[in-house]
Amino acid sequence: MKKILEPIQIGNMWVKNRMVMAPMNTNYTNENGAVSNQLIAYYQQRAKHGVGMVVVEAVSVDETIINHEVQPLLTHHRYVPGWANLVDVLHGYGTKVSIELVHYGSEGNIGPKVSASNISHFGCEVKSLSIEEILEIEEQFVQAAIRVKQARFDAITLHAAHGYFLAQFLSPLYNHRTDQYGGSTQNRMRILLEIIQKCKAALGNTFPIMVRYSVEEFIHGGRHIDESAEMAKMMQDAGVAAIDISSAATGSVMFNLRPNGFGDFEGFLLAYSRKIKQVVSIPVICAGGLRNPDTMEAAIQNGDTDMIALGRSILADDAFCQKVYFNQESRIRNCLCCQECLNSVDSGQSLRCSVNPLTGRESYFEIKEQPANKRKEVLVIGAGPGGMAAAKAAAERGHKVIVCEKTANAGGALKAGSIPPNKYRIADLTAWFERELRLLNVELRFLTEADKRYVQKIAPDIVVFACGADYQRQIPGAGLPNVITAQEALQNPEQVGETVVILGGGATGCETAEMLAGQSKSIAFLGMTDVYGKTIDYDVTDGPQQQGRTITVVEMRSEHGLDMSEDSRRLMHIELRERGVNLMANTMVGRIEPDGVVIKQKDSQEEKLRADTVVLSAGLQPVGMPFVPDEAEFYMVGDAVKPGKIIDAIYTGYVTGSNL
Ligand SMILES: Cc1cc2nc3c(=O)[nH]c(=O)nc-3n(C[C@H](O)[C@H](O)[C@H](O)COP(=O)(O)OP(=O)(O)OC[C@H]3O[C@@H](n4cnc5c(N)ncnc54)[C@H](O)[C@@H]3O)c2cc1C
Ligand SMILES: Cc1cc2nc3c(=O)[nH]c(=O)nc-3n(C[C@H](O)[C@H](O)[C@H](O)COP(=O)(O)O)c2cc1C
Ligand code: SF4
Repeated sequence: MKKILEPIQIGNMWVKNRMVMAPMNTNYTNENGAVSNQLIAYYQQRAKHGVGMVVVEAVSVDETIINHEVQPLLTHHRYVPGWANLVDVLHGYGTKVSIELVHYGSEGNIGPKVSASNISHFGCEVKSLSIEEILEIEEQFVQAAIRVKQARFDAITLHAAHGYFLAQFLSPLYNHRTDQYGGSTQNRMRILLEIIQKCKAALGNTFPIMVRYSVEEFIHGGRHIDESAEMAKMMQDAGVAAIDISSAATGSVMFNLRPNGFGDFEGFLLAYSRKIKQVVSIPVICAGGLRNPDTMEAAIQNGDTDMIALGRSILADDAFCQKVYFNQESRIRNCLCCQECLNSVDSGQSLRCSVNPLTGRESYFEIKEQPANKRKEVLVIGAGPGGMAAAKAAAERGHKVIVCEKTANAGGALKAGSIPPNKYRIADLTAWFERELRLLNVELRFLTEADKRYVQKIAPDIVVFACGADYQRQIPGAGLPNVITAQEALQNPEQVGETVVILGGGATGCETAEMLAGQSKSIAFLGMTDVYGKTIDYDVTDGPQQQGRTITVVEMRSEHGLDMSEDSRRLMHIELRERGVNLMANTMVGRIEPDGVVIKQKDSQEEKLRADTVVLSAGLQPVGMPFVPDEAEFYMVGDAVKPGKIIDAIYTGYVTGSNL
């Protein structure tokens, strides 16, 4: 049997396997911070599919200092019954449940800022706490811990990671105190050890207390692995039942929650976790970029970690663990590391996932898992993500589905989208969809362009138009032979000349520039240079290829990459700068000419940029419905309705397909 499926003991708690759902804030609690049906259904879906232990997302012990408008809370007994409901549901599946208790200190988005010293990545004034105030916060943790036990949770996880309150005391970056709570490792650990001791006194010695902390803060002046290993020993001596490994401080959080711009970062914390395991005998849980079940199994077998915490992997595929149980690893829907989940939460919405339309929507769509009353014939036109999501959902309800695609293969815009450096996960998504459709006996007809006659011949009951979007050619000269689209440039780089102007500096334009610039440089991102997370520290070495083309990306807005997540945008700017790509913002395009582009920047004269090739990378328009079917019921999904992103195409495809 796989080691990852073996039970493990954490204190007096047995967990049925080594897979843990990492804590992730969702904004699914209600507006008062209490448990909602949406939250229960979301966790239930993961428990149903076999996860051994859920560590419920960060729950604040202080309702005045919070990170999200709908922060989950355990600050009063009135919250206990709701949490107990959640625990009961998860226990029904044999899943163990811990809950992460947090105080945000100086790094909560909302409320006062308090900390060990006057430091916050926000750069604002912070109240440095007196000893009396420290003891009050310790008491807040203890009171919350008592409520945790009342709600029948199996364990507690103290949040001492990511630069929040407890992490602030632990870190030399944040903690400049000269009293007994600052200075030496022992002193910086004091608050955590006191909380552990008091919780044990309140809950009994056997109730498992785990600590989640950053073993490496990836920030200048922050804590490193050697001291973190010392701290692990101290936690074990204090009676901690398991150590839950994470990384980064607030300013460097992108080094923990790595976006795809980091390239391949599979299991990037395993080397650190191994060092912790060498000094403690209690179980170690490791999170961080773990996507591949083979890596997970090997990590446990090699002694790098005892348990695997699934973060974004279990958002992207709620049945991840079940697929590991049944040797169906190839059926796992992989996370794209696109950060839509994080962005949705950070922008005050509820968590959504690009590839899993059900994440957080489990309770709304449950019914759609049932077979349809009547089996219908469904023709989906277009094998992009929208069409494939619709086809999959329709086939799952028992309909007979044909997908016709005018090109030779599946993926639609994802084919070009997967070509830039670090975007290979998008190709995996296409391959996954194709495999799933074949398992569902969906018929895929390539090199088949659907028109009205074709639909008449098939005579389906339902037609789903998923034909995508096209580039507008409104700029004068856009029809010239020196003009190609970003999709064409990515798929046929040999058609692109030496001097290139890309029109449109959104994600696609920037990624196209990155790809066309070639791999002349290899960049390793190391960490942040300051607590504010203003500057990224990185190393550049010569890459395998000589410098490629001369590239300018013209953008009319104030900055390039504004449609990317902030972290991805920052990485992209470094990549482009180091590859010598010229970025022109606040720039309007006047016209395209056979040898270049006429542009105008704010408050200056028209100027000509010489170019062998001009790449269109903005101004998509929906294809819509190329024709109206005579008899069939019809729907439209994805970019065909409104050019958007993968998340929109998959979501509209899923909702349409599952309602047929
Ligand atoms: C270069 C590029 C990079 C991108 N990168 C990202 C990214 O990183 N993240 C992200 O979220 N989004 C990205 N996007 C956007 C994302 O790819 C689209 O939103 C998504 O692919 C839309 O899916 P869709 O199924 O609606 O349409 P499409 O993916 O465009 O698929 C439409 C399909 O329909 C076929 N078709 C059209 N007409 C017919 C017909 N009459 N008969 C048969 N077949 C037909 C087309 O050939 C095509 O395969 C990118 C887009 C581009 C162009
Ligand atoms: C949307 C989102 C919310 C998160 N919220 C928390 C949280 O509440 N507490 C915490 O300790 N970590 C949080 N994390 C970090 C994850 O637990 C995990 O450590 C991180 O995502 C890295 O693992 P991954 O690469 O598997 O995603 C969050 C991550 C995401 C994506
Ligand atoms: S939204 Fe993107 S990063 Fe987040 S889990 Fe889904 S695929 Fe992964």
